[in-house]
Amino acid sequence: MIIGPLFEDKPIPIVVRPKNPEEKSVAALQNYVMEHYEELEKIRLEKGAILFRGFDVKTAQDFEDVAVKVHPKLVEIFVGLNNRKRRGKYVFTSTEVPKYVSLSQHAELAYMPNRPSRIFFCCLKAPPLGGETPICDMQKVTEQLRKTHPNVIKKFKTHGLRYHLNYSDPKNRLRHPAEVKTWPEIYGTDDKKKVEESTAKDNIECRWDGNKLTLVTQYPALHTHPDTGVDIWSNTGMAFYPRLYLYEHWKTAMIGGLLYFWIIYFFWVLLEVFIRRPFLSDNKCPLYITYGNGNNIETNDMKAVSDAVWDHIVIFKWQEGDILFLDNNRVSHGRNPFLGGREIIVSLGLPEEQDRKNK
Ligand SMILES: [Fe+2]
Repeated sequence: MIIGPLFEDKPIPIVVRPKNPEEKSVAALQNYVMEHYEELEKIRLEKGAILFRGFDVKTAQDFEDVAVKVHPKLVEIFVGLNNRKRRGKYVFTSTEVPKYVSLSQHAELAYMPNRPSRIFFCCLKAPPLGGETPICDMQKVTEQLRKTHPNVIKKFKTHGLRYHLNYSDPKNRLRHPAEVKTWPEIYGTDDKKKVEESTAKDNIECRWDGNKLTLVTQYPALHTHPDTGVDIWSNTGMAFYPRLYLYEHWKTAMIGGLLYFWIIYFFWVLLEVFIRRPFLSDNKCPLYITYGNGNNIETNDMKAVSDAVWDHIVIFKWQEGDILFLDNNRVSHGRNPFLGGREIIVSLGLPEEQDRKNK
């Protein structure tokens, strides 16, 4: 196999490719991963992102066969609030957020009690336009922010983040595009008591307003990496901050340079200026965040974080058969808008608590 950085001028991802046609099979990749487990773990801890490219990975089963060798402790039940479709014992569909939405950098499920330790993506169908999964080394972002905006980091570290997920009345057909599912679809029931029982197990607070539901959770903004002990900006804050959406779409267009991204950006400008802001306050958006003490986060503070993130973001085009392996406690991911068909599937490493118990 050949191992090295994907880009000469960027530290992540480290790419593993077959050296010759005999090394292209899934079995050969599995063997390689088993024989080099420690080496790959070292790369995960030092860099946080590995891309397996050029192998004969064609199905969800191929992907799962490789992922379980890279990390044998994978999640069997997807506990997020999106009800992902199952594609294998440990494999699920990726986000169902509409294709014209740019998803900001986030750590997977950092607003839930069971944040996964690792995340795997596999590209079964690459979109003809856009649809990349940009990644970012949040350890580098945190180091930069400590130097450039120490007060911003201090505020986030002191107060933490309070996440709000707002669900409209299920009977209401007009929903924000980010509200992918209604609460009865997520919990499989319209019985409020059952929803409360289910959320209580995960320490999620339920706030009802008639048939509208807000789920509230609270977590640190800086997460201590369980293996390295480093405090890292690793959360879902940017994706929960409505005032940042336009800025993020603009950055996506600036960096991505595609005309399509600019069209999407201007579409969001119109939507934001003429519909969202006049009719839907920030705290009523599907995803909303405050400091842990309930105070509003200043837009400039979140923009400072966003700027640092964009300084370190890495974007590459998906190739069919790619498997991307990320340390979810260090390297964040997002999603660019796209056109055409796109099939990305995911697997998650068990949450840290369970992971440690099994060690
Ligand atoms: Fe995600």
